[in-house]
Amino acid sequence: MLFRSEHSKLESFDKLQNGYEAIVNGHTIKSKKLILATHYPYFIFPLEFPLKSHIEVSYLGAKKVSKILDFSAINIDKPTISMRYHKDGENLYEIIVYNSFMSSNVSDIKKNFDELKKREELDYIWSNNDIMTNDFMPFIGSIKPGLYLATGYNTWGMTNGILAGRMIANMVLGKRDEYEDLFSLKRIINLSKILRFPVDVSASIISYIKGGKSCSDRVKYTTIDGVNVAIYKDELGIEHTVLNRCPHMKCGICFNEVEKTWDCMCHGSRFDLDGKCIEGPANYDIIYKKEC
Ligand SMILES: Cc1cc2nc3c(=O)[nH]c(=O)nc-3n(C[C@H](O)[C@H](O)[C@H](O)COP(=O)(O)OP(=O)(O)OC[C@H]3O[C@@H](n4cnc5c(N)ncnc54)[C@H](O)[C@@H]3O)c2cc1C
Ligand code: FES
Repeated sequence: MLFRSEHSKLESFDKLQNGYEAIVNGHTIKSKKLILATHYPYFIFPLEFPLKSHIEVSYLGAKKVSKILDFSAINIDKPTISMRYHKDGENLYEIIVYNSFMSSNVSDIKKNFDELKKREELDYIWSNNDIMTNDFMPFIGSIKPGLYLATGYNTWGMTNGILAGRMIANMVLGKRDEYEDLFSLKRIINLSKILRFPVDVSASIISYIKGGKSCSDRVKYTTIDGVNVAIYKDELGIEHTVLNRCPHMKCGICFNEVEKTWDCMCHGSRFDLDGKCIEGPANYDIIYKKEC
């Protein structure tokens, strides 16, 4: 069974004696096997996955063009720049990816978008999250009997996602896959790769302590009736109030003035202007409801 989050959000799941019970849009679905391919795995014991990975935010732009080429390119230097063409119905676009940073650097988001805009005249701009693992290899495999995970594609999910599909199909059918050990979630990560670990952990701790406080001059952090909130005052003077901690692991949220979203600095959750969750791992909104 395939859950598409556009219409069916997996809210939680439990292990049964013979399979799993998933709560999707308030309904219960029972299955013998469950595959988690939700980008960042919200449902994994939080102290495990977040310490083996970090989020990188890339800055993207698209411009309308009159013709597209069967061509894409990526450089080998830093900052990473890549480009490709895309057809959407009658509309043709050139898409440019310019640079990426750890999500704990989101306070520079406006500066990063300005750099992108300096390069090209663009019709659209947006940012994207990728999950980077400590050893730059994806996590694909079984967590527990009947429970599978595919994530951590290190920006190469169109390629690794195909591999994950093949591997997990084999595992579900009880066949051994030749890459099972290589991408196992329980693999031993070599010492030099583990050196990445303190960087990821300290970035998360700094984000947690710092909260989003330095992200925007238009945001005020305060308490209302004992509830910690962040308030963004828009150009028309309208205030947008949200709860100021991310529901995933309580890190600080940062207001992204370019895309008008609240972005979590730890594992990439995003919320719209009024706090509706638009990207996980957080599975809940940060909408502030004033007590009557
Ligand atoms: C501009 C651009 C260019 C790229 N170019 C390449 C390339 O050339 N080659 C390459 O290999 N990769 C490329 N990538 C990277 C690749 O697109 C990503 O790595 C890949 O999409 C990640 O796949 P994923 O399945 O882990 O996550 P996603 O594609 O994000 O899919 C996860 C899905 O799970 C859903 N979901 C999340 N939470 C829940 C929930 N609780 N319940 C139900 N559903 C949920 C989401 O809505 C989403 O549909 C590019 C990315 C970008 C942005
Ligand atoms: S604390 Fe993990 S995404 Fe916010």
